[in-house]
Amino acid sequence: MKIFTHSKISIFSFFICGIILFNISCRKDKVIPVEPIPAGAITIPAYDQRSGDAVAGYDYLVAGDYIKSGIPRDIFTTFFGSDSNNELGRTGDNANINYQYTATNASNGVRIVAPNCLQCHAQKINNELVVGLGNSMYDFTVNQGSGIQLVGAAINQFYGNGSPEQEASEDFIKVTSVIGEHLITEVIGVNPADKLAAVLAAHRNPTDLVWTDVPLLPIPEAVVPTDVPAFWLLKKKNAMFYNGVGRQDFARFMMASNLLTVVDSTEAREVDNNFNDVLAYIMSIEAPEYPENIDMNLADEGAAIFERKCQNCHGQYGANESYPNLLIPTNAVGTDPLVAQTYQDGYTDFVDWYNMSWFSTNPFPAIIQPEDGYIAQPLDGIWATAPYLHNGSVPTLEDLLNSSQRPTYWERTFDDSDLDYQKIGWNYTVRDAGGSNTIYDTTLPGYSNQGHTYGDSLEDSERTALIEYLKIL
Ligand code: HEC
Ligand code: HEC
Repeated sequence: MKIFTHSKISIFSFFICGIILFNISCRKDKVIPVEPIPAGAITIPAYDQRSGDAVAGYDYLVAGDYIKSGIPRDIFTTFFGSDSNNELGRTGDNANINYQYTATNASNGVRIVAPNCLQCHAQKINNELVVGLGNSMYDFTVNQGSGIQLVGAAINQFYGNGSPEQEASEDFIKVTSVIGEHLITEVIGVNPADKLAAVLAAHRNPTDLVWTDVPLLPIPEAVVPTDVPAFWLLKKKNAMFYNGVGRQDFARFMMASNLLTVVDSTEAREVDNNFNDVLAYIMSIEAPEYPENIDMNLADEGAAIFERKCQNCHGQYGANESYPNLLIPTNAVGTDPLVAQTYQDGYTDFVDWYNMSWFSTNPFPAIIQPEDGYIAQPLDGIWATAPYLHNGSVPTLEDLLNSSQRPTYWERTFDDSDLDYQKIGWNYTVRDAGGSNTIYDTTLPGYSNQGHTYGDSLEDSERTALIEYLKIL
């Protein structure tokens, strides 16, 4: 083997290499040092979760009535058109609606259409819909509320004020037009869901969840931009969300989408009773397999590097799978601190609201527990989840593992087939400046691509091997 003929190899390193069998780490007498778990890292404890029926959970996720107010079926088709692709295999009138929306009955029986979870939690890759892949394409740079007022006016005109159709859409139109202005992001692809939760909470009584037009809490400034984590990672995690704030009952957190139009906590309880099934479905999702060839010898070399440089934080894959559930302090990982910080200062009214609200009550309470750090995510299916880091600021794995190569301003086509199978991630063009919603501008607050420099000390060949290994996770 090549390394054993290296002229400078000493008896000592020969011995070490023989023992630990990491050929790659012994090249040029180099043993890749083990990356330690930083001081201050927190091991997140496990909490009991409700069990449920995954098949029923899928049905409820894609066709359930967790949002009970929306746009009357016919008006929806007039404005948004129909879609016969039926990627979700739905039946009835849902078979002709885009997968991001669901037709259900409003409380008064009128057939309405409302957005579902897959607006943010599904995306196409190579024109194939992957349910559970975070949507990194959605455009939140425009006020979603302004168009909806037009739809409201059309409903009034068509069915008349006070008609059952108008009543069935009233809450949806009212809420979406109030919240839209608070949810505007700087670039396409990042998601304002954290702010969405804070805005909805500000307008609702914590105990009975009833809406008030004038917010009861100050609405925080920051629209913290995040990526959307893939559903298939949740089964390994002890806490939800990038900063690990989601503790205790996961299903209770997930049903918070119902806050969009919920009438009161009686409705919330009824919806909550289905989310144990949704959780069971989410826990059943597996990461999609890498679609191209993998060089298994190179991947083996990469596995040895991973074991030394990455495994302490991200866990072990394959036969001896394990996952340490670590929250790494922001100053140790060094990535953009805004999301973690915001939960400790800017969003405190929201955090307090949540922890004394219906959401934190028995049975199955959930609480938000802000701590200063980010979860070192499981890396299953990582090839499919570009862009990387909690704010989606890094377009490819190669850039993530070599911080000096990360582009300050980068633009992608938002074509779901425009993948880079060398660097693993999105093809992109480097730009000289930001200022357009299609150019990711890492100089904006919350959008920085700094930190996570654990790959920097690797040589290019080692990085290539490591990336080959990451493809098989
Ligand atoms: C407007 C977009 C949006 C919608 C709609 C939405 N989510 Fe999310 N979801 C997000 C974002 C963004 C995050 C990550 C937020 C963070 O970590 O700060 C998230 C996080 C999650 C997580 C945690 C994943 C993890 O590994 O930490 C789960 C589970 C989840 N959502 C389920 C759902 C379900 C179920 C629905 C529908 C009932 C839903 N979401 C609706 C945007 C959305
Ligand atoms: C000290 C702990 C630690 C080490 C060591 C470490 N990471 Fe990470 N990694 C993290 C944390 C924390 C995050 C989340 C940071 C964020 O999103 O701001 C992360 C994020 C990532 C992501 C982005 C995940 C996503 O969904 O966007 C990838 C990919 C990744 N790490 C790969 C690696 C590889 C490969 C190595 C080894 C070279 C490595 N990491 C070493 C802690 C670590």
